[in-house]
Amino acid sequence: MTDNNSGNGQSRRTFLKTAAVAGAALTAEALAPAVYAAGSDTIKVGLVGCGGRGTDACNNVLHAAKGVKIVAVGDVFSNHVKGSRSRLIDLAGDDEVKKLGNGVDLPEDRCYTGLDAYKKVINNPEVNYVILATPPGFRPLHIEEAVTAGKNLFTEKPVGTDGPGIPRCWRPTTPRSRRGCTSRPARSAATRAATSRR
Ligand SMILES: NC(=O)c1ccc[n+]([C@@H]2O[C@H](COP(=O)([O-])OP(=O)(O)OC[C@H]3O[C@@H](n4cnc5c(N)ncnc54)[C@H](O)[C@@H]3O)[C@@H](O)[C@H]2O)c1
Repeated sequence: MTDNNSGNGQSRRTFLKTAAVAGAALTAEALAPAVYAAGSDTIKVGLVGCGGRGTDACNNVLHAAKGVKIVAVGDVFSNHVKGSRSRLIDLAGDDEVKKLGNGVDLPEDRCYTGLDAYKKVINNPEVNYVILATPPGFRPLHIEEAVTAGKNLFTEKPVGTDGPGIPRCWRPTTPRSRRGCTSRPARSAATRAATSRR
């Protein structure tokens, strides 16, 4: 495993381990270059899809390493946003989360509702790490947005549900987007080539 961030190698390992348990399609290469915003040691998480899995994934990262803050959430339904926000604020009071110095900073103007909520979360300048946890039909669109924005990514599986959608998950759109992101299918050149031909 590569440790590009001085002084934080151990906690990153812990973070990755927990992320893998949670089903993340994540590698060290994905996490290394740009998890931390320039000048900041904090992983600032934006959640897209405030259901059970998304809220639990935030809980996982809050317990995984030092320097994690949940800073934005988005969902198509306002009651899902409300429920997740309130659960996350409760989680910030957890002893272990406090011991790690982690937290939840979710003012209402960083809680987004609607079909374009994903754009607002992903492109929020506060966010440097995105969790995608909607139903998978939306995933290619959301992965593409996150990759284009140069954000680091934890994506729930599956990453797509159809032939046209799946290649969008690994087709980089700009040289910048090649940095800091990967997805599970990209591990297999044979699978990637076969799907791209379809
Ligand atoms: N639940 C699990 O154990 C589990 C395990 C493995 C993978 N997953 C993956 O995680 C996904 C979510 O699981 P869940 O149990 O949290 O489902 P869920 O239905 O509880 O949550 C999905 C949330 O996404 C929101 N949503 C739907 N479309 C959206 C959009 N376009 N933009 C923003 N928000 C949108 C929904 O309103 C809902 O709040 C699953 O579809 C699956 O791909 C879940």
